[in-house]
Amino acid sequence: MEITIRKAEKLKNHPEDAGLGFGTFFTDHMFNMDYNPEKGWHNPRIEPYGPFELDPSTMVLHYGQAIFEGLKAYKTDSGEIQLFRPQDNFKRLNKSGHMLCMPELDEAFVLESLITLLNIEKSWVPGEPGTSLYIRPTIIATDPYIGLRSSNTYRFFIILSPVGAYYPEGFDPIKIWVTTDYVRAVRGGVGQAKTAGNYAASLYATELANKDGYTQVMWLDGVELKYVEEVGSMNIFFIIGDELITPELNRSILSGITRDSVIKLAESWGVTVVERKISIDEIYRAHENGALKEVFGSGTAAVISPVGNIKFNGREITIGDGGVGPFAAKLFDQLMDIQYGKSDDPFNWIMVVSA
Ligand code: COI
Repeated sequence: MEITIRKAEKLKNHPEDAGLGFGTFFTDHMFNMDYNPEKGWHNPRIEPYGPFELDPSTMVLHYGQAIFEGLKAYKTDSGEIQLFRPQDNFKRLNKSGHMLCMPELDEAFVLESLITLLNIEKSWVPGEPGTSLYIRPTIIATDPYIGLRSSNTYRFFIILSPVGAYYPEGFDPIKIWVTTDYVRAVRGGVGQAKTAGNYAASLYATELANKDGYTQVMWLDGVELKYVEEVGSMNIFFIIGDELITPELNRSILSGITRDSVIKLAESWGVTVVERKISIDEIYRAHENGALKEVFGSGTAAVISPVGNIKFNGREITIGDGGVGPFAAKLFDQLMDIQYGKSDDPFNWIMVVSA
């Protein structure tokens, strides 16, 4: 398929790298493509960034049939633009799409489309340390219909946003609030899909956590309310004794690409990584007997986010001295060095898209 390109007549001013924050600025162009059963995916095009006109009955607005991805483009010291494991994001997008009854995308074609878009927008990739161009591929259901079924038509789009740190804390430890009153996902649900509803389901408890002075919620399993699943919008890791432990993928946990990268890096350093169920009680016991050394989250947006405090059942514990642990710091540095092309790429995670 040929990608049509229509350039914006007027280009926007670029924000200062120092004031980027997360997710508020968008570039001049976006990628769009449509699906209907007759033509399949068709009309791939790069156009000026702008609003969609949607009929008020458009299905995504009512039933949340929407999936998305998050990945980043990084600028190296020599000015190259590179991506981190982009094939894995498009693979996961198709997996999410399968769970949400959406038509499959040609992964190679959408990656090629992203690279075409990035080559047009490369001046938007910020250069200050810790900044990047966040990429948000999304699919929404577009039938104008308010009966409940899966849509017959879809829009796929990619938007780009220059970003700095995800949390206002930056790399400083975050405070986590554990709840047994609310869950993010349940066994047999869509927790493993990157779908809008999972994020909507997280909002109410997150507001309660924020009101209590905590940054994010630690989600427990939706069946027994005992086992840790995720934290905020990230996967979670614990260092207990000499082991790095993370909840096993149980179909209600998102299979994070940063999670997988942490596991592979840690194993390559000779660390024992264990993917298993881990209860909140075990974490508190490990804290009591001094075995809990570090806790950190992992995700595309935040990369590695150390956890300084956890509150569960009214009792707050401090992890280590409440500061950034050495293992989280080492992982963060190594991941960033690979992403920004400052170190070797032993796992072939990097794809250079533009010089
Ligand atoms: C990401 O880490 O890329 C995500 O998709 C999380 C989102 C809430 C920013």
